[in-house]
Amino acid sequence: MIREATVMDIPRINELGELLHENFSNLFKINEMLNDGYSKVIVYEKEDLIVGFISATLFYDTCDILSLVVDPNYRNKMVASNLITYLISEGGENLKLVTLEVATHNIPAINLYEKFGFEIVHTREKYYKDDDAYLMARKSE
Ligand SMILES: CC(C)(COP(=O)(O)OP(=O)(O)OC[C@H]1O[C@@H](n2cnc3c(N)ncnc32)[C@H](O)[C@@H]1OP(=O)(O)O)[C@@H](O)C(=O)NCCC(=O)NCCS
Repeated sequence: MIREATVMDIPRINELGELLHENFSNLFKINEMLNDGYSKVIVYEKEDLIVGFISATLFYDTCDILSLVVDPNYRNKMVASNLITYLISEGGENLKLVTLEVATHNIPAINLYEKFGFEIVHTREKYYKDDDAYLMARKSE
């Protein structure tokens, strides 16, 4: 089941987020995102376990994906794909641009985003501690 996150989900989201950034819970204040009116935090739940989540900001016609993580035991089962599809559908017809940053070595994620029509538009050097980042964008008419 895919649904909007609630405050009860925060510990598990932070646990998954630590797989992405060791300092995840300080960098991304999920509790604030749940209430700020422009962020989206969406979880994928399987048998009462959150196996993945995506977080993003949604302003007017633009969505910026901040984090996307799937539990290693549940990868390659379309969990991330379903989360992205859900997020994009939440944006509705007005959504014209979706952007994100991804580490240049992160081939699984780059492949995933390219499958959804994202293109590399810029390289941000030394964006991460150990890597550059691609800025990727997906435009719709
Ligand atoms: C990247 C990540 C979110 C993908 O999640 P997932 O649920 O396994 O992805 P899906 O099953 O929906 O995969 C869809 C597509 O992504 C690509 N992909 C996913 N895993 C891949 C891998 N290990 N190697 C190459 N391509 C991969 C493929 O194009 C795949 O399509 P295909 O199955 O038709 O080949 C997951 O590996 C993850 O959580 N990684 C760690 C966190 C991270 O890097 N997040 C992204 C930060 S920007």
